[in-house]
Amino acid sequence: MAAGEVVTRPAAVVKELLENAIDAGATNIEIHITQGGMGMIEVVDNGVGIHPDDMVMAITRHATSKVADVANLHGITTLGFRGEALAATAAVSRLTLTSSHDDSGIGRQLQVAGVLDDAPKLMPVVHHRGTTITVKDLYFNVPARRGNLKSIATEFGHIETIVREVALARADVALTLFHDNKKRLSLSSSAMSLSTMSSTTRLSNSKSLNTVSTNANGNNNVNPLPLARLEQATGLSLTKKALEIAIDLTSLMQPSREYVNNGFGDQASVNGWLWPITDSQDTLPKLIYVNGRLVKEALISNQLRQLAQTAQLVGTGYALYFDLPTQWLNINVHPSKQRIKISPLNNIMAHVSHAIRTKLKTVVTTETISSANAIQILGNSQIVDSNLSIDNAFATAMPNTSTTIYSSKSQAGKSAQTTLSVVRK
Ligand SMILES: Nc1ncnc2c1ncn2[C@@H]1O[C@H](COP(=O)(O)OP(=O)(O)OP(=O)(O)O)[C@@H](O)[C@H]1O
Ligand SMILES: [Mg+2]
Repeated sequence: MAAGEVVTRPAAVVKELLENAIDAGATNIEIHITQGGMGMIEVVDNGVGIHPDDMVMAITRHATSKVADVANLHGITTLGFRGEALAATAAVSRLTLTSSHDDSGIGRQLQVAGVLDDAPKLMPVVHHRGTTITVKDLYFNVPARRGNLKSIATEFGHIETIVREVALARADVALTLFHDNKKRLSLSSSAMSLSTMSSTTRLSNSKSLNTVSTNANGNNNVNPLPLARLEQATGLSLTKKALEIAIDLTSLMQPSREYVNNGFGDQASVNGWLWPITDSQDTLPKLIYVNGRLVKEALISNQLRQLAQTAQLVGTGYALYFDLPTQWLNINVHPSKQRIKISPLNNIMAHVSHAIRTKLKTVVTTETISSANAIQILGNSQIVDSNLSIDNAFATAMPNTSTTIYSSKSQAGKSAQTTLSVVRK
């Protein structure tokens, strides 16, 4: 894998550094950017840190503390596994790695710029437990790459998107993003995260996650999924239209197989949210996370689009969190780790489609009223033109209402039984 494949632009560096911080168990991450990442990218975490003896290894190619052998690639529970990211970044920038693995307040620092010749020297420095990685002058030694970069605003936009995507995967991590010393994003951590939930909640024991679920510690949590975090990170109002999804896939797990018991990967479920789109102007998230990793999977997104069409919606927004046994996954099929091979994907999607179809059917629908009732709502004085579509009739009669109407004719020719489904905005 060439360095260029990993480090395609400043946002790609930010993504790798954030993933490393999360793999290190950080709960608080600060990201300082200058000049759209072309000046400096700095990620400060409070994770486990790196032992002084391992610091040179950390920036060496193919060195990873995360996978013992290649056969293990099927059981990956960390975001990183190639041992490439830091080495690739160091090869095209001036990189400073500072880390402390204990609470002494003292850490070590090393600097590399471009090619790693002799072993870089470790300097003792004052540093809290955790790691700070500072990447300056990205592509200083690759002028062609530097020339390909877009404006500061565009590059920073990509960085912001990456930070939001990570924030959506991990509500338990507090993230703060600064650009040229101005705070641009500040996401507090929420007490109960999806990842905590995956290791503590058994869907089989608590079938309904819809309102209140109890985790293994006995805490009651209303909506353990990070809907508040979703709103915070997307800046969209998502609560009202959200349809909660909780699908148990444990029936697909072979009882004879040993499954790793390490949080992610020891259960099979899909949790998250759907947002029916009724107005093509709507911008709603379309996010698929598999074991905490944002992935692009055409099969899943196409199927969701079809389900929305069948339910006569313009489309659907979604944030779906697949929590799957690691044996089902092969992440090592794409250099930027965005694609993932899921082996029983057709079976999974059959379950998911069935559950979502049922949900969309019952839902569109907080209230379903017959057209006779609807006319009462419209008021006695209103005459509804029978040639108008139900939507138009409702809009004509109640122009100021902030209600979204979905109508569906149940059977051709039975217009009297047309149902109106009203979802309050
Ligand atoms: N923020 C961090 N905190 C603690 N250890 C870190 C941190 N960043 C990197 N490391 C250590 O450095 C090693 C190399 O990191 P690098 O990102 O290059 O590889 P990786 O994460 O193992 O795999 P990948 O290339 O897929 O990201 C990691 O395996 C880890 O041991
Ligand atoms: Mg990494």
